[in-house]
Amino acid sequence: MKEWTREERYRFLESPDEVRDLYKKISESKYRQTYHIQPVTGLLNDPNGFLHYNDEWHLFYQWFPFGPVHGLKHWYHVSSKDLVTWKNCGLAVAPDKWYDNRGAYSGSALVTDGRLYLYYTGNHRDENWVRTPYTCMAELFEGSWRVHKSKEPLFGPVEGYTEHQRDPKIIKLEEDRYVIVLGAQNDAKQGRAIVFESDNPVSGWKFKGEINVPGFMDFGDMWECPSVQNVSGYNVLMFCPQHITLKYRGQSQNHNGYLIGSMDWDKLVFQPIGQFHELDFGFDSYAAECAARRRTWAETTMIAWMGIPDAEYPTDEEMWSGCLTLPRTLRVRNRRLIQEPLQELTQLRVDEADPDTGILPDACEMNVYNQEKDLDLSLFTKEDGSGGINIHFDYDTKVLIVNRSGMTQLFNEEDGNIRIRKLDNKLDHLRIYIDRSSVEIFVNSGDAVFTSRVFPLDTEHNFKMNTQAEIHIWNLKPAIKDNFVI
Ligand code: FRU
Repeated sequence: MKEWTREERYRFLESPDEVRDLYKKISESKYRQTYHIQPVTGLLNDPNGFLHYNDEWHLFYQWFPFGPVHGLKHWYHVSSKDLVTWKNCGLAVAPDKWYDNRGAYSGSALVTDGRLYLYYTGNHRDENWVRTPYTCMAELFEGSWRVHKSKEPLFGPVEGYTEHQRDPKIIKLEEDRYVIVLGAQNDAKQGRAIVFESDNPVSGWKFKGEINVPGFMDFGDMWECPSVQNVSGYNVLMFCPQHITLKYRGQSQNHNGYLIGSMDWDKLVFQPIGQFHELDFGFDSYAAECAARRRTWAETTMIAWMGIPDAEYPTDEEMWSGCLTLPRTLRVRNRRLIQEPLQELTQLRVDEADPDTGILPDACEMNVYNQEKDLDLSLFTKEDGSGGINIHFDYDTKVLIVNRSGMTQLFNEEDGNIRIRKLDNKLDHLRIYIDRSSVEIFVNSGDAVFTSRVFPLDTEHNFKMNTQAEIHIWNLKPAIKDNFVI
């Protein structure tokens, strides 16, 4: 891949014309998704500011316009009436103030008194490239969807922590009581979640302290994108601990996980009632963001970046990178998060494809009802059944293995080519969402999910079932209006 100079990475987007040709070029890629949110140009990473306002859902993503690298980050805006079909709304937060001169980093959103506020990290660097992270706020105006940024940031970094203090998650605890949770690294290089409090969402923020999470105070050197969610009557601390190696995840240093427990906001203690769990057992999932509003009182909706930091993807050659996962419904069952594709996604179904052909459509939903104890299925095989991504369940050990080593285009191999999850029960059902360059495998009504990017060659569009199962394949219609809006 081309080497990017600092100047190229931190170039400011002055006009849409600067990326028009790039847009045309990447729209020809056979790996452009049809029903997943993807960057209009360049690179997408974390989802940000997921919210519901006047019957519409809004979501933003971290965006570097000029190519597949992590450079000067903007917030790009997409919206949806139903969380199924999405349209591009254009640039929302540009890094154009002194306090965010090297990037408008991740954050969240709040609707209060009919006004819409975005909270994000201003990644400031001085002329010696010394970083100072600021917590910033911008008001978003309906209709024009332009933002108005405040003159000064809400607050700067606090002592006792390094330059890594970012990703504000705003939470309204009660009337006149708001907290912002930031991901941080302390001076001893341990990951932390730190808390600020105010009685007013737009001013008066004071540092309150760090969240004490018994058993997890030495768990990775930085926690990115922490948040505390309420799911099925529990508190869930979601975060991305970095630079630890976890079982069954190869050399991967970036994890997207959670603890279930209870949060005491007065004492700043999160008491876990179990171990740390991965949110996703696949290869590409990070920085999960939950919607600020629930669809029903019992459910939380989550979307994540279908990618990981410090990684390269085959589409880098085509000058774009990244996409988001499908929206998922979260619930707690047996002290674990259950993740199911949003119910409304069935609206994408067009007609059924004949599974006997052994051909895997470009964009489809495959339902596999296992009829034996074991299961063995390969996706994206060649016509002769060789290669592909193999999904194997062994009933005796209850272990489910996803092995991608049969694909021709492999990437991020340092993270390993195999992912494993031990199930509690027999494998009954797989619900698999395939788009042009991704696969999301939902196991037994959301017991586990394996999310991965996949870049099949033209010769890798078959599948092979080696055990007995009933299979239904739905062709899915496009749901992303991939037009040029900046
Ligand atoms: C996570 C992350 C965040 C940061 C953002 C920058 O992927 O590193 O911590 O705010 O990406 O794009």
